[in-house]
Amino acid sequence: MNSRAATSNETATPFVHEGIAYGCDYNPEQWGPETWTDDVRLMREAGVDLVAINIFGWSHLEPRAGEYDFATLDTIIELLHANGIRVNLGTGTSSPPPWLTTLHPEILPVSDDGTTRFPGGRQAWCPSSAVFRQHALALVEKVAERYGHHPAIALWHVSNELGCHNALCYCDDTAAAFRLWLQARYGTIDALNVAWGTSFWSQRYGQWAEILTPRLTLSSRNPGQVLDFHRFSSAELLDYYRREAAVLRRHSNVAVTTNFMVTAHIRNLDYWSWAGDMDIVANDHYLDHRLADPAIELAFAADLTRGLAQGEPWLLMEQSTGAVNWQTHNLAKVPGEMTRNSLAHVARGADGICFFQWRASLQGSEKFHSALVPHAGTDTVLWREVVALGATLDRLAEVAGSRVVADAAIIFSWEAWWAGDGESRPSHAVRYLDQVHAAYTALHQLGVTVDIVSPDADLSAYRLVVAPCLYLVSDEQARNLDSYVKAGGHALITFFSGIVDEDDRVRTGGYPGAFREILGITVEEFFPLLPGHVLTLDSGDAASLWSERLRVDTAEVVANYLDGPLPGIPAITRNGHGSGTAWYVATVLEAGALRNLMRTIAEEARVTAVGPESAGTIEVVRRVNSTRSYLFIINHGHDDVELPVSGHELVVGEPIARIVRVPAGAVRVIREDPAS
Ligand code: GAL
Repeated sequence: MNSRAATSNETATPFVHEGIAYGCDYNPEQWGPETWTDDVRLMREAGVDLVAINIFGWSHLEPRAGEYDFATLDTIIELLHANGIRVNLGTGTSSPPPWLTTLHPEILPVSDDGTTRFPGGRQAWCPSSAVFRQHALALVEKVAERYGHHPAIALWHVSNELGCHNALCYCDDTAAAFRLWLQARYGTIDALNVAWGTSFWSQRYGQWAEILTPRLTLSSRNPGQVLDFHRFSSAELLDYYRREAAVLRRHSNVAVTTNFMVTAHIRNLDYWSWAGDMDIVANDHYLDHRLADPAIELAFAADLTRGLAQGEPWLLMEQSTGAVNWQTHNLAKVPGEMTRNSLAHVARGADGICFFQWRASLQGSEKFHSALVPHAGTDTVLWREVVALGATLDRLAEVAGSRVVADAAIIFSWEAWWAGDGESRPSHAVRYLDQVHAAYTALHQLGVTVDIVSPDADLSAYRLVVAPCLYLVSDEQARNLDSYVKAGGHALITFFSGIVDEDDRVRTGGYPGAFREILGITVEEFFPLLPGHVLTLDSGDAASLWSERLRVDTAEVVANYLDGPLPGIPAITRNGHGSGTAWYVATVLEAGALRNLMRTIAEEARVTAVGPESAGTIEVVRRVNSTRSYLFIINHGHDDVELPVSGHELVVGEPIARIVRVPAGAVRVIREDPAS
């Protein structure tokens, strides 16, 4: 692999690796040298070739202020290097050592109720703390100086999951930084007053010094303030990332990245604004068993990560071999599941599969988190699967560098998520991510490959673009979708889209303000429904949670409500706009109904389904390079499947003439014959 991340980063340093990387976090400080020797022997047995170390190294590297001790890290790096294992070197700054928080308790983060979050866990630092930054950057300087030209170093790993716990800090240092950020954005306090709508509820500011972080209030908070605080907090951590990266680049020519958290439960960073700074985009993904279908969410996260990488290959920096330890019920993976999950990431563009962590901890918060080497050792089902996965990834080496091609796109926006899921919204039963997942699930089950793109993306290559609940859009983003449809594109927009501008200010004259013309409709009033209230449409479909008093202007009606608060009012519409077509769904359709509608729209848009329809049990994705194409077929189901394809299968290594049989639970990757 020789990849560059987001194309906006024209000066990106390539991350160079042969084939598909196979790796893990390695925290050897927990054991002594005899274990390290055993560790590298086992890493070689498994084919592990990229190991992330020094992620939480600070208290070992700098045991006392300004006193550095690199002896252990030197030994580990040399040991890995001698065994041909490449190093993904952490800068070590993710968690400050106890001496620092003791000397400088002012670096500790403060939560929205004004209480301090103390050390004893991890990531106990305020992103705006100058004191923290000074100490952390001094450590990065030492690490970069020492290892910047070491031949084992393949990649720099800045901090760890920036913002995982500390994205939103409400302390006084943060308030000061927030004010500066606001001054740069608005110039004058009057402009800020206009943007935040402070004329309401007597919130008008006279001076910058009056502005605070949005700490807990008695009522709901000012939505503009909360939205800008999200923007600021994301930008503040990105600024921190840039400072670490700048130090590394002064001492080293190795690619720099950090691990994103594109996963269902984390929403604090606007990764569209971050991705261009990564030399290669990397993501951590953990199956969330609180969701109805964690494997489909995995596919969504992988597709979104590819979107962040602008379609270039990316790295899965962390996942688990089995159970995690931080959900309420931590489910282990059944045999084959880890392999399917891993290859689902590869199918969707990952050129590296890494895990947290190498050897299961015996102590500490994560001792019940799975690892490549479990507590029970290597005579285990899990270890045998770890070794087999390494061999499989080796056999897929030629896939590295190829790209996924998609006919359909879903627009995804962190800003719309922050604003749309605000405190004072029409229905708390409607959540942005649920609606995005619903649209994604429908396409996934139809066998359609989807790119997840930003509202600013060039949409012209897609046959179908879906914008679910895109509550906040700028004028420019609205024009982007408008031009796409006018030029002949097909769009599906769902309710609660285009409602406000980037200041969270309602667009007047009827909803969905920004998209009224594209859709040829006017919505006069929202009619959210109580959870459990199921409506029927005259198409026979069921719907829930949301309805709207809608009238068509130029659109045709596809379905009306039969009952509920708005009988006879349109629920689904279709509008010709320029040379294209824009569909609107004004309610939450039951999953099967949404899939049926999506099938109709996809057929009309001539979207090619790469795989067969299934309940999400069969995933089929194609990766292509300039000379070859690879068809990934992942069978999550309990029955064998057969699909028409000719070529050479890489996982088991056999020629395929016309039909491949994929056993239940298995994955097959076919290098396709040119004609198939
Ligand atoms: C990640 C983190 C790792 C480990 C892992 C456990 O959030 O980066 O250090 O804690 O979760 O699932």
